[in-house]
Amino acid sequence: MGSYLVTGGAGFIGSNFVRHLVEHTDHRVVVLDKLTYAARRESLDGLPADRVTLVEGDICDAGLVDRLVAGADVVAHFAAESHNDNSLNDPSPFVQTNLVGTFVLLEAVRKHGVRYHHISTDEVYGDLELDDPDRFHEWTPYNPSSPYSATKAGSDLLVRAWVRSFGVQATLSNCSNNYGPYQHVEKFIPRQITNLIDGVHPKLYGAGQNVRDWIHVDDHNSAVLRIIDAGRIGETYLIGADGEMNNKAVVEMILRLMGHPADAYEHVTDRPGHDLRYAIDSTRLRTELGWTPAYTSFEDGLAATIDWYRDNEAWWRPMKEATEAKYAKSGQ
Ligand code: NAD
Ligand code: DAU
Repeated sequence: MGSYLVTGGAGFIGSNFVRHLVEHTDHRVVVLDKLTYAARRESLDGLPADRVTLVEGDICDAGLVDRLVAGADVVAHFAAESHNDNSLNDPSPFVQTNLVGTFVLLEAVRKHGVRYHHISTDEVYGDLELDDPDRFHEWTPYNPSSPYSATKAGSDLLVRAWVRSFGVQATLSNCSNNYGPYQHVEKFIPRQITNLIDGVHPKLYGAGQNVRDWIHVDDHNSAVLRIIDAGRIGETYLIGADGEMNNKAVVEMILRLMGHPADAYEHVTDRPGHDLRYAIDSTRLRTELGWTPAYTSFEDGLAATIDWYRDNEAWWRPMKEATEAKYAKSGQ
């Protein structure tokens, strides 16, 4: 039994990771989360109090981070400002949390000799043409497009430098687009599901031809745990489940699964600098660490996610109005 410090554990992927740890290991978990607009305390409801503790605080608070890291065996760093559209409106919290926050954590794990895993994104590699036969690999050059992805790229580079210069015991993972329960309604899939529940048409940016490589959040988290347990120190692992689909096809699938005509969506203003396509080659993770995704059908995972949002309106309803008001200001 060990002790995990999970930053951002009240957000989408982090809270699912805490559930994963409780179900599949006997570790104790301390969650450090600032409880920004993106967090829901309720995402940790029902977890055993003798296994999971929530500390409300900022990863940029060096004193607090030092105390929490000193008591941990592993730090799993999920906390971030995570939404591209927000980073285009105001990059400042992205620089602070994603860059300065990661620096503060690295200094603490360096001082206390604690194992560190850095959760990052495939967006650090920029985007691919639709007809490019290649996908992203661990050796693809960094080429981020948005303030969000630039700060994530910078945070990855800090980790690599702390491994090489100071011998920090760290691994990194870069994952593609996640879907599943407890995802904020600002994100593409939950936004469209909750719009339809509210009798509003789904909103497609531009022509809807942009491709994302979808993976269920539980598959992302099983991969993260596998890398923490068996990954090589200093290495990066790409996480993906061969789930490429364009946004128009995803919206059409949601409409069909929710009993609406497949063309009942509207086109809205496109995102400036919108990345065209992401695609992950996860061969290293699969061959070296023997990982495989459990969700083999995107359609089944999406249907289960739709059911979750239908059954958990009390969880998402408090966030919906403010989210749509923000989108309305940019014509989205
Ligand atoms: P999220 O926005 O749902 O959650 C982020 C969490 O971090 C929130 O609970 C928030 O309160 C917390 N947080 C923000 N600033 C903080 C600070 N200064 N101190 C402490 N806590 C703070 O994000 P998510 O979608 O769960 O993403 C989690 C991680 O996974 C991020 O690092 C993101 O870059 C990465 N990632 C996300 C995806 C995806 O598809 N969502 C894919 C690949 C990688
Ligand atoms: O690739 C991993 C990344 O995936 C993570 O690093 C980010 O944290 C996460 O937010 C996600 O980034 P995207 O920008 O790809 O996700 P988002 O849900 O914002 O949008 C997915 C696609 O859908 C994108 O092409 C934009 C489009 N979109 C989005 C919204 C909110 C729409 O067409 N309509 C919408 O209403």
